[in-house]
Amino acid sequence: MAKHKTPLLDQLESGPWPSFVSDVKQEAEVRAKNEKDVNYQIPVEVCEDLLGVLELSYTDGETHWKHGGIVGVFGYGGGVIGRYCDQPEMFPGVAHFHTVRVAQPTAKYYTTDFLRQIVDIWDMRGSGLTNMHGSTGDIVFLGTTTPQLEEIFYELTHEADVDLGGSGSNLRTPAACLGMSRCEYACYDAQALCYDMTMEFQDELHRPAFPYKFKFKFDACPNSCVCALARSDFSVVGIWKDEIRIDQEAVAAYVGGEFAPNAGAHSGRDWGKFDIQKEVVDLCPGKCIKYADGKLEINDKECMHCMHCINTMPRALMIGNDRGASILCGAKAPILDGPQLSSLLIPFIKVEEPFTEVKDVVENIWDWWMEEGKNRERLGETMRRMGFQKLLEVTNVKADPRHVQEPRHNPYIFWKADEVDGPWERDVNEYRKRHQR
Ligand code: HEM
Ligand code: HEM
Ligand code: SF4
Ligand code: SF4
Repeated sequence: MAKHKTPLLDQLESGPWPSFVSDVKQEAEVRAKNEKDVNYQIPVEVCEDLLGVLELSYTDGETHWKHGGIVGVFGYGGGVIGRYCDQPEMFPGVAHFHTVRVAQPTAKYYTTDFLRQIVDIWDMRGSGLTNMHGSTGDIVFLGTTTPQLEEIFYELTHEADVDLGGSGSNLRTPAACLGMSRCEYACYDAQALCYDMTMEFQDELHRPAFPYKFKFKFDACPNSCVCALARSDFSVVGIWKDEIRIDQEAVAAYVGGEFAPNAGAHSGRDWGKFDIQKEVVDLCPGKCIKYADGKLEINDKECMHCMHCINTMPRALMIGNDRGASILCGAKAPILDGPQLSSLLIPFIKVEEPFTEVKDVVENIWDWWMEEGKNRERLGETMRRMGFQKLLEVTNVKADPRHVQEPRHNPYIFWKADEVDGPWERDVNEYRKRHQR
């Protein structure tokens, strides 16, 4: 028998989708039975009370969570998000309900042993409810009490050998695609760079000193499996500079129907015979592919690196050999001023250990943004407010046609006196001989 009646929440279980309400109820039942004889350190009824307070919010049409409250672990300024209920007597199980962010391994490779270890910690010291993973990328542990925070921190770092993630105005837990570990499209080692940058910027990750949050995301190719350029202030996207490699025999095999296009990804339905003209050539946004007399040609100068042709015919077309990454800046979600995608800052950079060139770009951006950014202003907003040219200046990047989104759209480039020829001496009397007043 549930502790609280939740008729409104129960509605949410009736649709076709999996429901978080069912999940929370299931966990409530497991905790109540406690078949594994867990030595619970927070109230057993935490899940019941979570449902109860949510039902009350639905009835009242207002939240019963108080905002924030400074909680954390010794030495860190982020990683724990404080949450308190404003009806603690009615719902003692969620009087405190703090969220703990735990850093996910790059590309989210786990052993089952590790997963068991962390959920065991959480069953005992928290609500047992997790979010695998949050939009930030982290493992998110939902709901514990203040006295458990140091215990959890100790066990995570000393026993499970994993760190807390970022929250608040600091560097958030960096995230990368699985890149070279499994993917032939990878133009650089996104996991290595992600790990290295995480280790390098520990201070920024744990001690909030920024105007607002700052995210790194690393995609090893423009397929953007972690969607870096929509989701991060600093997006590193793998790219090649030379030609797409073409295997004409494999092209013929696709055309002849021997190889399934898109590696068979759309094979659930009969789409008819593969039509290279319609499905590849006509869809190329650079309009730079030609297929004639059984031969495929690409004018690589016009290629936009959209990946479409390569994704469609992966056995025939391969990324180029001169590989590196583009760096783009300033993506953000809507909170202030609407959503924004990243803008291209560095068209091409080699990504090689110890990654000094990439780190220099970040440090320059931070120096500027920490000085000029307003409180709670994301990098993308500072860029808009002060102009893209300012970003070029602070990162020592030369203006380049590729920075221009469309003519007369980007902020004007203003030249400084020392960047142009002149000044020239001119004689006003000479001038007046030719022009009347
Ligand atoms: C009044 C109550 C709440 C407020 C104002 C609130 C606000 C927020 C904010 C601002 C963030 C983003 C933090 C950041 O990245 O800077 C966040 C993240 C999150 N919150 Fe809440 N929250 C509330 C209640 C809850 C509750 C009750 C839960 C779970 C039962 C929850 C689960 C989460 C999770 C899982 C995230 C991380 C999401 C992600 O990274 O994908 N929050 N919340
Ligand atoms: C001393 C002389 C002139 C001054 C001070 C002047 C000033 C300006 C200014 C301030 C603008 C707006 C620029 C912007 O922010 O978009 C403008 C636009 C324009 N001017 Fe002039 N102008 C001068 C002479 C001329 C002449 C001689 C022509 C044509 C023969 C001309 C044609 C235009 C055109 C077509 C635009 C619109 C450009 C666009 O935005 O598409 N102007 N001018
Ligand atoms: S972003 Fe590109 S390299 Fe990374 S996993 Fe996806 S397809 Fe592969
Ligand atoms: S990657 Fe995209 S733009 Fe480049 S040739 Fe292929 S389809 Fe065209």
